[in-house]
Amino acid sequence: MGGTDWADWQRSWDRQQEWYMPDREERFRVMLDMVGALVGPEPRVLDLACGTGSITDRLLRRFPDAVSTGVDLDPALLAIARGTFGGDGRVTFVTADLKDPEWTKELPYDTYDAVLTATALHWLHSEPLAALYGQVAGLVRDGGVFMNADHMIDPATPRINAAERAQRHARMDEEKAAGVLDWAEWWALAAQDPVLAEPTARRFEIYGEHADGDMPPVGWHADTLRAAGFGEARPVWCSPSDTLLLAVK
Ligand SMILES: C[S@@+](CC[C@H](N)C(=O)[O-])C[C@H]1O[C@@H](n2cnc3c(N)ncnc32)[C@H](O)[C@@H]1O
Repeated sequence: MGGTDWADWQRSWDRQQEWYMPDREERFRVMLDMVGALVGPEPRVLDLACGTGSITDRLLRRFPDAVSTGVDLDPALLAIARGTFGGDGRVTFVTADLKDPEWTKELPYDTYDAVLTATALHWLHSEPLAALYGQVAGLVRDGGVFMNADHMIDPATPRINAAERAQRHARMDEEKAAGVLDWAEWWALAAQDPVLAEPTARRFEIYGEHADGDMPPVGWHADTLRAAGFGEARPVWCSPSDTLLLAVK
């Protein structure tokens, strides 16, 4: 494992994700602005569906006295995360399925100042997502925050949605022609890597290409979080395709 360039895998993951979300870094920046504003500069954070630990990485650069627990089910992305943060006492990674009713038992802490997640919960259907929001409400301390940055589609705006989609795909086609790696091509690369090949094969057994969930509108997320026990919930940032929803307990 010593020979693997984890920073290189992180960079190529970032480039691949940015092809889908050119505003990804701005989303992370606003997320951390709100962490600082609401729970201060030394938060205990749960990086939910952490993938390679992108949120944890930005968190620790911004707030070096923070601690983070990353939780995910993907063995290949977790291998990159563990390789990147190995030996950093501020970070723990946990392998768990967020659809498992018992997953919170695997965590090293009972409560968190902030639970943060990005580009992940649309892999869940609304019913398991509502159940997950109930579990998240139990993990966030009073006064703590939950933030979800993700695709949230409003079915009441079909013409806007279609125009946004067409614009986004035109940009992606242009960038693709210039050589950007898409999701499938990135995974094909991982499958050829001597260290990542085995966990990549396992992740395809778990998920297939990726899981198909729902992308409910912002109002659904805010209502469901309030019903789960959060006192306030509203968007703090949005782009034409994505929203960063903040809930305070
Ligand atoms: C597109 S990646 C985003 C990762 C990271 N948050 C980022 O912004 O780069 C989606 C992540 O959600 C995770 N995920 C999806 N469903 C999950 C589940 N049921 N349990 C745990 N993790 C899950 C996947 O394994 C994957 O790492």
